[in-house]
Order: sequence, then structure tokens, then C-alpha cells
Amino acid sequence: MMPRIRLAHKSDIQGIARVHIDSWVSTYRGIISDHYLSQLNMEKREKSWIWQFDHPHPDEVVFVAENEKGEIIGFANGGRNRSDDERFDGELYAIYVLEEYQGQGVGSELVRAVLSHLRTKRYKSFMVWVLEKNAAIGFYKRIGGRIFSRKDIQIGEETLVEAALGWDRMDDVTFVRGVKT
Ligand SMILES: CC(C)(COP(=O)(O)OP(=O)(O)OC[C@H]1O[C@@H](n2cnc3c(N)ncnc32)[C@H](O)[C@@H]1OP(=O)(O)O)[C@@H](O)C(=O)NCCC(=O)NCCS
Repeated sequence: MMPRIRLAHKSDIQGIARVHIDSWVSTYRGIISDHYLSQLNMEKREKSWIWQFDHPHPDEVVFVAENEKGEIIGFANGGRNRSDDERFDGELYAIYVLEEYQGQGVGSELVRAVLSHLRTKRYKSFMVWVLEKNAAIGFYKRIGGRIFSRKDIQIGEETLVEAALGWDRMDDVTFVRGVKT
């Protein structure tokens, strides 16, 4: 599938929140407790996204991927590194693609879009945090990320480990399927 990738607007919040919840449930089942996942709801997600759109991090951008019907099937956002780590100036904050659209290049296209925005803002490198048990860590390694740090994170009642992967240069991203940075 060739997704259409475009900048997100506030009017996309419902679609983004839907993808966010659906992919959280399909991604984190067995990693995060069922109790926590069952409490995710659209109203809270939408409110959180409204807040995010109204209070963006420096240079933050949100992209969405649409299918041929114009439905949102994935999103990604990124901007200035939220931590004090000086090795990586940019950060991919989140990326989620609906399960049925995974493995078709959509994630790569979304990362490419976020990075091209960061490049125009003169960012040179970037990083991402991911739960160590999340299979997505394989995606980040596949596109050239290297683990450089780990930390505990509290999600609901549980303490989980998050890994940070970094790319010293955006040009180090090793995309596939003709996706060019
Ligand atoms: C992680 C995610 C964004 C990747 O997007 P995607 O559209 O599925 O990935 P792509 O199709 O662009 O894959 C690009 C390459 O990475 C590889 N890849 C993708 N997911 C992988 C995984 N879990 N493990 C290993 N390699 C993976 C693909 O095989 C492909 O390489 P290939 O062409 O050599 O086969 C997507 O799978 C997703 O949304 N997952 C659930 C949500 C999530 O965990 N988000 C990250 C939270 S930090």
C-alpha cells in the first residue's frame, strides 16, 4: 500500500486517538496489564491530544498516514529532544501504525517525514524511547538505531524497562523499499 503521509491538523485528533488506542492495545497486550489497557478511552486520549496540539514541544510536528479512503491508519510525532541528553538533538516521540497496515512501509514513511521536518530545522541526530519488550525495537534496529541507555518507567501498577536508541546522524537511517531520507 502506498500511504498518503501529510501534516496532521487538530481536526485529525479523533482519528489519531483511535489509532493510538487500537495500536496500544494490540502492541502492549501481554506487556502492559489488561486492566490498564482496558481503561484507555477515546475521551481521555482526545483531550490529551488537544493539549499536545495546543502546547507543542519546540519544533514538534505530527504527521498522519491515510489509506485510500482517507482514514487515518498511523501517525508519528517528533521534535526537540525532551531530555537533557546532548548527544541527540532531535527525538521521535511516538509512532503508531494500525496492526493491519504494519509491515508495508508505512512506519518508514512516517519516520522519513518527521526526519525531513527536523532537518529543515537543522537537527542533526535523533533518538527514541521504546519499551524493551516491544517488538518495535526490532524496527528501530532495522533502520539503524543503537541502544545507548535504559531506564525504568512506571505504567499503571507495573515498572517496565524502556530502552533509548539513537542515530548519531539522520543520514545513518537505513530505510528500505525505496524510502529515501
Ligand atoms: C514499529 C512500527 C511503527 C513499524 O512500522 P511498519 O510500517 O510496520 O514498518 P515498515 O513496514 O516500514 O518496516 C521497515 C523495516 O523494518 C522491519 N520491521 C518492522 N517491524 C519490525 C519488527 N517489529 N522487528 C524487526 N523488524 C521490523 C521491516 O521488516 C522492514 O524491513 P525489511 O523491508 O527488511 O523487511 C509499526 O510496526 C507499529 O506501529 N508497531 C506498533 C506500535 C509501536 O510499537 N510503536 C512504537 C512505540 S515506541
